[in-house]
Amino acid sequence: MDKISAFAPATVANVACGFDVLGFALDYPGDEVTLVRRNDNKIIIADISGDNNLLPKEVEKNTVSLVIMEYLKHLGISDLGLDIHLKKQMPLKSGMGSSAASSVVGVFALNEMLGHPLQTIELLPFVMKGEALACGVAHADNVAPALLGGFVLIRDHKSLDIIQLPTPDELWCTVIHPEIEVQTKDARSILRKRLAMQEAVAQSANLGGLISGLYTEDYDLIGRSLVDVIVEPQRSILIPGFQDVKKASLSSGALGCSISGSGPSIFALSKGRDIAQKTGEMMGKVFGNLDVGYQLFTSKVNKVGPKILDK
Ligand code: HSE
Repeated sequence: MDKISAFAPATVANVACGFDVLGFALDYPGDEVTLVRRNDNKIIIADISGDNNLLPKEVEKNTVSLVIMEYLKHLGISDLGLDIHLKKQMPLKSGMGSSAASSVVGVFALNEMLGHPLQTIELLPFVMKGEALACGVAHADNVAPALLGGFVLIRDHKSLDIIQLPTPDELWCTVIHPEIEVQTKDARSILRKRLAMQEAVAQSANLGGLISGLYTEDYDLIGRSLVDVIVEPQRSILIPGFQDVKKASLSSGALGCSISGSGPSIFALSKGRDIAQKTGEMMGKVFGNLDVGYQLFTSKVNKVGPKILDK
């Protein structure tokens, strides 16, 4: 095979009560890549679209090519050359796992092109390196769901003990991205390093409740558990109108609402498409009234992760 195209999804990390340990994937938006074999052994970023010229084209600085090079090194392949064509289809620095999608999409496509020498889960250590390059820290709560689909729990980051959780069929997600920038490293730097005992107790109770709700398809329990008593109160000050957006989503029937990843995007989970769409409209009205531009995405929770495109 000399040419292959693939898609990798956007993701919502943290999911309210699972800071740094829980994430899920969306069907839409996501990144697309096309890899074309070259006659030499060079890895080249041939073009990038949709990034407003913000992403680097140097192969050591670009997440797609860096992850691909780490993968090739691991397999001991030094005679393969590729032109990489990357199509960004989601906002950068949005809290929607843009760098994770880029880290995943190229290596996933290449692994297929080479006849699947590694299982998909075995790509995780390489995509973690892409995430570390993009964000400064290698957290797995975006890359693991972008690679595997569905809800993923990271029980331990160091050993990459990853647990795939079930996704109830009628679970829909609304993500609204206000056009302001929040850097992950800034959103992390404002967080307190110490917790009160009752905060840790409430957070673990909610995380347990959420995971249990996913297994039993108990939408009410999922809703009751989508509560973040630790991170959201600290980070929400970075997002104008956050409390009103959250109120609007809950009053339109969403199960729960919180910050997507490190923000500024806000996500809501709903039972069914109709509520998810209504939620999006109501959230959009709040930003509209504040004169804050926004992009809105409504998607089912993605159960399959990246996919090969028929192009
Ligand atoms: N868990 C990370 C954080 C995700 O919230 O900082 C970053 O998208």
